[in-house]
Amino acid sequence: MRAYSLILRKRDGHPVPPDALRSFLRAYHHGDVPDYQMAAFLMAVFFRGLTPAELSALVEEVLASGERVDFGGAPGRRVDKHSTGGVGDKVSLVLAPLVACLGVQVPMMSGRGLGHSGGTVDKLESIPGFRMDLSLERFRGQVLELGTALISQTPEIAPLDGKLYALRDVTATVESIPLIAASIMSKKIAEGIDGLVLDVKTGNGAFLPEEERAVELARTMIAIGGDHGRDVVALVTAMDRPLGVAVGNALELMEALDALRGGGPADLREVTVSLAAEMLVMGGAADGVAEGRHKAAAALDDGRALAMFRSVVKAQGGDAAVIDDPAVLPRAPVVREVTVGQAGRVASLDTRAIGEAAVGLGAGRSSLEDQIDHRVGFLLPLRPGDVVERDTVLAEVHAADEASAERAAGELRSAVRLGEDAAPPRPLISHRVTAAGVERLG
Ligand code: URA
Repeated sequence: MRAYSLILRKRDGHPVPPDALRSFLRAYHHGDVPDYQMAAFLMAVFFRGLTPAELSALVEEVLASGERVDFGGAPGRRVDKHSTGGVGDKVSLVLAPLVACLGVQVPMMSGRGLGHSGGTVDKLESIPGFRMDLSLERFRGQVLELGTALISQTPEIAPLDGKLYALRDVTATVESIPLIAASIMSKKIAEGIDGLVLDVKTGNGAFLPEEERAVELARTMIAIGGDHGRDVVALVTAMDRPLGVAVGNALELMEALDALRGGGPADLREVTVSLAAEMLVMGGAADGVAEGRHKAAAALDDGRALAMFRSVVKAQGGDAAVIDDPAVLPRAPVVREVTVGQAGRVASLDTRAIGEAAVGLGAGRSSLEDQIDHRVGFLLPLRPGDVVERDTVLAEVHAADEASAERAAGELRSAVRLGEDAAPPRPLISHRVTAAGVERLG
């Protein structure tokens, strides 16, 4: 089918034959379909969606565009976690060593931060010397020997997704449920996992803020996993406030280390333990979620998870001294407290704006070429519902210079809305979604 006819069919809401879609995608990957035709197709998908057969053709073609990690039937089960992204989300740093120390292998490929949300790669690269760019062979070997490896997305995995994502990013077609689901799931299936636990964020700091859309995304990803013989379970978690207190790479790493020592903020621990329990059940290391929670909590409290993190840092060339002495981490030269400036009750936090304030300090990037400043960010303990005075501390800002600290202070103050009309904060974990259906938890 000619590219023009295929775009026309999608534009007018008619199904596209899966083989024709695969040929169109392959031709794009090889440079035989121009960006403008693919952009038109993506916009048609944005408005019309994809049929299950089209969705599966997209996933297959993206998978076929690159390599797949092959564990060749090696003993053990391999389970990963994927988060749809948010502000202050440092769960992966705690979760991978936690689950691995309990006997389930965790091959984890992560992204960099883009837009207002942070990325695991940038957080771990705060550790001097830590390498995220392992070859697929070394990745595979480390997962089998140690139990986990955390690496950045490699160009060998799903290269067609990289090309499509870059185009979506500049054509306002990122926020499409089938496109997001296919993009995430094809990369995860290529990692060689048996199962996947999804942390689908909802609220004003999430990619898809509305709860119904978060649940639909979860269901779509679970269906793709099922088609490929992978167990997938999703928890829908709150992103109407940052997760934990720290936002910014080295600061988040320090908070993750607190959690690995059995401390840290309660919300970070709760989300981590809940996801770990699901992964342990999936990996055959716990008989049910209650037992999984118990095992995960114990491994955080007795130092096993921290010991595994230390082994990972050493194996990937990082300076393990950061674990005993976080002063080894890069530190910002300007640290200053920002007060709320008014008295009242916190009605809501604009979580996206909080993430953008961190990017403004240099903690994230506005384009993929930008350099990250690992030192900067803030600690922001305020939550919706808190009663504040004019001089209540809103945040401790860590900045490269006075001017950027001043700018961030203004942005953070604007992100706090005071008023008596506060909607109750979202439940931290609101739904559990499986192939069997949707369970409301809070
Ligand atoms: N993350 C991805 O990997 N892909 C998307 O499309 C959106 C978020």
